[in-house]
Amino acid sequence: MDKLIVHGGSTLKGSINISGAKNASLPILAAALLTEEDVIIRRVPDVSDTNYMIQILSALGAEVERSSGTVRINAANIISDAPYELVRKMRASICVMGPLLTRLGKATVSLPGGCVIGDRPVDLHLKGLRAIGADINMEGGNMDMKAPNGLTGTEVDLRGKHGPTVLGTDNLMMAAVLAKGTTIIESAACEPEVVDLANFLNSMGAKIEGAGTRRVTIEGVEKLHGVEHTIIPDRIEAGTYMVAGAMAGCPDNGITLNRVNQDHLIPVTEKLIEAGHSVEFSTAGNSVTVKPGKNPKGCKITTAPHPNFPTDMQAQFSSLFAVTPGISVIEDTIFPQRFMHCAEMSRMGADMKVDNGTAVITGVEQLSAAPVMASDLRASAALVLSALTAKGSTEISRLYHIDRGYEHIDEKLLLLGANVERVRE
Ligand code: EPZ
Repeated sequence: MDKLIVHGGSTLKGSINISGAKNASLPILAAALLTEEDVIIRRVPDVSDTNYMIQILSALGAEVERSSGTVRINAANIISDAPYELVRKMRASICVMGPLLTRLGKATVSLPGGCVIGDRPVDLHLKGLRAIGADINMEGGNMDMKAPNGLTGTEVDLRGKHGPTVLGTDNLMMAAVLAKGTTIIESAACEPEVVDLANFLNSMGAKIEGAGTRRVTIEGVEKLHGVEHTIIPDRIEAGTYMVAGAMAGCPDNGITLNRVNQDHLIPVTEKLIEAGHSVEFSTAGNSVTVKPGKNPKGCKITTAPHPNFPTDMQAQFSSLFAVTPGISVIEDTIFPQRFMHCAEMSRMGADMKVDNGTAVITGVEQLSAAPVMASDLRASAALVLSALTAKGSTEISRLYHIDRGYEHIDEKLLLLGANVERVRE
């Protein structure tokens, strides 16, 4: 297992390119199962989550070729059983359910395990698929689903106790594109990654309207054809490096991130500006320069479904607030248990009190290096951010958590002038 050693104190400068979005790539790779024709997807990030999805597609019988960021898939001959040993490694693999069910009339996918950010139920996925005609039985940890009479469109509300479901919306949308009749999803997720999937499906010949709003209408069609598509930029990777710029960027010129989409970064931008930092986009909105403010101040963050502040960015902001004067409060209404990073940061001297889905953070002058352990993807990224400004050298073990969703993070940090080294353990 690799670890990352971060020697704190470097000032970051220069620029990097943001990769394609992991959370758009995963459902779009799965959606390639919906056609017998070639699909070419560009800007697929080289991270372990997309590698797992590619392995799952291959195990299902699809031909898959990858050359750097471009993936070619042909799913003419596929089977309906997703392999347990791969599915258990990544929750997002459940988004093969919708495509398999509507293409083959059946699907067997193992129940995804929980993870450190909280239990990860799938009841809303099942509610949506059952609503359009799926028979689903739980057998030995598997979800066995069949559509003996095909799938028929209907209206279904996918809101859960924590709001809309991103992959649940994706799954139902993908199942509905080849169903008979029209499906209406109420309380649909509006994330940019859901919109990218809808755009991908429509370019294959689907008829989806309303993606990006809470009400999505899908009119079923007979077949979908092949397509070429480029994945949208990763707004969470971009947000993570924006926080790095606010924490450790050169005060005069900051750091610049290229290949971003300003429209996908509104809540993160607003919060960085509220905290006293400088965020400036290019006229085209596809690059952003972030500089640390002279008088940073603590803020309150409450995560909520898009277009509000994303849960995937709250850990990174806790790193910023840990060394920001004043008191900050972070409440995660989507994953109330998503505060594993706080215990690790406290080992570095952070003053964080977590209770009932909320972290109260009192800024300190500087954190101190300590051996810490990555736990989940975004918590690990938060530890890297804390290490950038900590006194001394921080060793972050279990780097595989970060490699799941950040493409070449050590190389990108080195390009920005950080003093980091990846060590094979
Ligand atoms: C997606 O996960 C993202 N993953 C997550 O990013 C992200 O944190 C999450 O959306 C919320 O924005 C991918 O896109 C691959 P949800 P997803 O279904 O779709 C509850 C990262 O760091 N819920 O939108 O699995 C659930 O427990 C990852 O990149 C149900 O109750 O999340 C949560 O509280 C982590 N029943 C809320 O809804 C269900 O059937 C939102 O979950 C499904 C979800």
